[in-house]
Amino acid sequence: MIIANDLETLQNSLLEIAKNGKKIALVPTMGALHTGHASLITQAKEMTDCVVVSIFVNPTQFGKNEDYSIYPRTFDDDVKLAQQSGAEIIYAPTVEDMYTNGFSTIISVGDMGKILCGKFRPSHFDGVATVVTKLLLRIMPHIAIFGMKDYQQLCVIERLVSDLDIPTEIVGAPIIREEDGLALSSRNRYLSPDERKIAPILYKTLQNTAHNLKSNNVSEILAKGIADLTEAGYKVEYLELCDSFTLAPLAEYEEGSRLLVAAWLGKTRLIDNMSVEENND
Ligand code: PAJ
Repeated sequence: MIIANDLETLQNSLLEIAKNGKKIALVPTMGALHTGHASLITQAKEMTDCVVVSIFVNPTQFGKNEDYSIYPRTFDDDVKLAQQSGAEIIYAPTVEDMYTNGFSTIISVGDMGKILCGKFRPSHFDGVATVVTKLLLRIMPHIAIFGMKDYQQLCVIERLVSDLDIPTEIVGAPIIREEDGLALSSRNRYLSPDERKIAPILYKTLQNTAHNLKSNNVSEILAKGIADLTEAGYKVEYLELCDSFTLAPLAEYEEGSRLLVAAWLGKTRLIDNMSVEENND
């Protein structure tokens, strides 16, 4: 296992691997790794010869009043889990290594980054798009794997890779959930024991909403979902039915549409999503 904290060490290791003609996968993360991240690494290992896991809590994707300073940092455990799951290289750059002095270029994906989560986290997807572009260009992997847990992020990355002709195949990986349906997230550890008991209602509401959507008025069903979440103690940012490729909001159910939700439970912001068909078939 190689741990690279700077670009030179990373690229020297990658040169060796490329010389041997190995296929490289990248799994970008912000650390605090859990079984959801591990599933991405395992999938990457199945598809390629060498998996690079990046661990970088990216300051540019956090808003001013967000949790950058308290975001969980569990590096030693992350290295163990990444290695057990099949990673060969950990790339854990410093902020200075990633954003050299005078850094000022921002990658912006346009409207897709301004809807849904982008409405509530205005510069978030610019920060994500910029750091992911840098990681892809630094590593030049054959494939890069992203979880469908962050569905809008996956769409944004697919858009930018296509728009900028970046020669990496983007692979979407399924959402890994707790037994009670709560999607695994590094932020779940912020939840109090009482909040943790309420949290799975987010998933249940998505299931109920998806179930009722096909045969009922969409705006009424979405309003009912928001009311159920509010009653359970959530503060809902959005619950929307969207086209699964463009993320454009849909007023009527269409095949291939996706439900996306973001809501606060106390001081924790949770997101989740589901394909409407997945739930009904
Ligand atoms: P992070 O939140 O650490 O997530 C890293 C990757 O793990 C993302 O692709 C995310 O979708 C995936 N993931 C998280 N929870 C998951 C779950 N329960 N099931 C499946 N996949 C899951 O997303 C980021 O970091 C950052 O924005 C990043 C892309 C690294 C850019 O900084």
